[in-house]
Amino acid sequence: MAENLEVQLAAVKEKCLSCKKCSLCKSRTNIVFSGGIPNHKLMLIGEAPGYYEDQKGEPFVGKAGQLLDKIFASVGLSREKDVYICNTIKCRPPENRDPLPEEKEACKEYLEAQIEILKPRIILLCGRVAVNSILGTTQGITRIRGRWFEGPNFSKMMPIFHPSYLLRNDSREKGSPKWLMWQDIQEIKKAYDMLD
Ligand code: URA
Ligand code: SF4
Repeated sequence: MAENLEVQLAAVKEKCLSCKKCSLCKSRTNIVFSGGIPNHKLMLIGEAPGYYEDQKGEPFVGKAGQLLDKIFASVGLSREKDVYICNTIKCRPPENRDPLPEEKEACKEYLEAQIEILKPRIILLCGRVAVNSILGTTQGITRIRGRWFEGPNFSKMMPIFHPSYLLRNDSREKGSPKWLMWQDIQEIKKAYDMLD
């Protein structure tokens, strides 16, 4: 079963690697399909590859990624053994601008396939772009982070702050973004531990 799942994901990745469905194919160095491990319990969806991700072909490998790893590690989770990581679009937008609606639309089939194959029980929507893409809401992340939403295949989805945002907001005081992230990751770990 697990092997089959990896074969299916590899087939989608293969297709993605030669994708020219939107103009980002012209400026990318590498496609960033996924990182971490295919774990049906936990998936994180970020925004789009940045400079380092584009260089390495792996998601969340820059400064934001290092902070993300620390956040997971604070509750004993890691991308090596617990989390499947991907982005709403697979190629880097020039100058890290927000993905355009037509780019998100073009790339949607890959993200949808990843979700359909893995059927994750918990999906973390990391930052505004992922929240807008998946929940279709323009509500601010500050207002909806930390809440559970019903996701595909009876999953639970939670919007969380993007680590880049946390890097720009250094305070750890009660009520600060970092403090709120700490509450959220503990809630996520509790839900994770309750899964079979
Ligand atoms: N930010 C994202 O949203 N995704 C990455 O892969 C890297 C930085
Ligand atoms: Fe294809 Fe997505 Fe890359 Fe656009 S961003 S070229 S749709 S893989």
